[in-house]
Amino acid sequence: MLGPDQPVILHLLDIAPAATALEGVRMELVDAAFPLLAGVVATTDPAVAAKGVDVAVMVGGFPRKAGMERKDVMGKNVAIYAAQAAALEAHASPGVKVVVVANPANTNALMLATHAPKVPKKNITALTRLDHNRALGQLAAKAGVPVAAVKNAIIWGNHSSTQVPDASSATIAGTPAPAALADDAWLAGDFVATVQQRGAAIIAARGASSALSAASAAADHVRDWLCGTAAGEWTSMAVPSDGSYGAPEGVVFSFPVTCEGGEWKIVQGLPVGADLAAKLKATGDELVEERALALQCLGE
Ligand code: LMR
Repeated sequence: MLGPDQPVILHLLDIAPAATALEGVRMELVDAAFPLLAGVVATTDPAVAAKGVDVAVMVGGFPRKAGMERKDVMGKNVAIYAAQAAALEAHASPGVKVVVVANPANTNALMLATHAPKVPKKNITALTRLDHNRALGQLAAKAGVPVAAVKNAIIWGNHSSTQVPDASSATIAGTPAPAALADDAWLAGDFVATVQQRGAAIIAARGASSALSAASAAADHVRDWLCGTAAGEWTSMAVPSDGSYGAPEGVVFSFPVTCEGGEWKIVQGLPVGADLAAKLKATGDELVEERALALQCLGE
């Protein structure tokens, strides 16, 4: 996650009822003898977990069960995030970089940022790399090529079913995806729906939400953020919106970004037709609604 030779000290936080299982995880980490693992702190105290951390991967939250919409878990999770913000603000490294994985990820990140005002806003992001990777996977399968041949898909907006998977600027083995696939109906239809609904499909199949792919995407997100995106390539990250591409300002919105020197930058100047603009507006509207609902849940 941090490059091939960066030692890490892991701080693992769980709730008190899970303390014994957490200790089991700590023991397994020691037993795995990872050469780059320089220490493990396993705790149920958010202040201890946050102490001195440079990177925070926020996976904890009330889980979405089959049949539940993301909004159903909103009230429970925004309260958790407001509380964890205090621990990060007080105890983490001043330059801590945060990726929120737990849903509603974009709005949890926004609530974290609101309640941790000393942490630079640009350092608090949410995970849409999972959706980005899902888009790459679908494009590769459709083209019958290895996933490494697919570049520059985009996920816009919210990590929800209103997200906008966009292959219009993607390439497959160097050829623009629309030309390589020659199937605009699929790109506008099944491709978009499959990526948008993939989280729910995984829950329906496993009886639990995505685990391996979400963990892998979180590692990809942090690695690209800290170690940089490859020349000529971008990834998707949900970051504080500056209004680019007509997105509402202030919400945490997924954009195509490049990363260099530990900083992300929104890719500018991509073409946005009327159809895409309407979809960006819908996902942006949902984030504005979520923000209002979250503040209402927090009584703010
Ligand atoms: C996913 O995209 O796999 C998850 O965010 C789904 C969920 O709601 O847990």
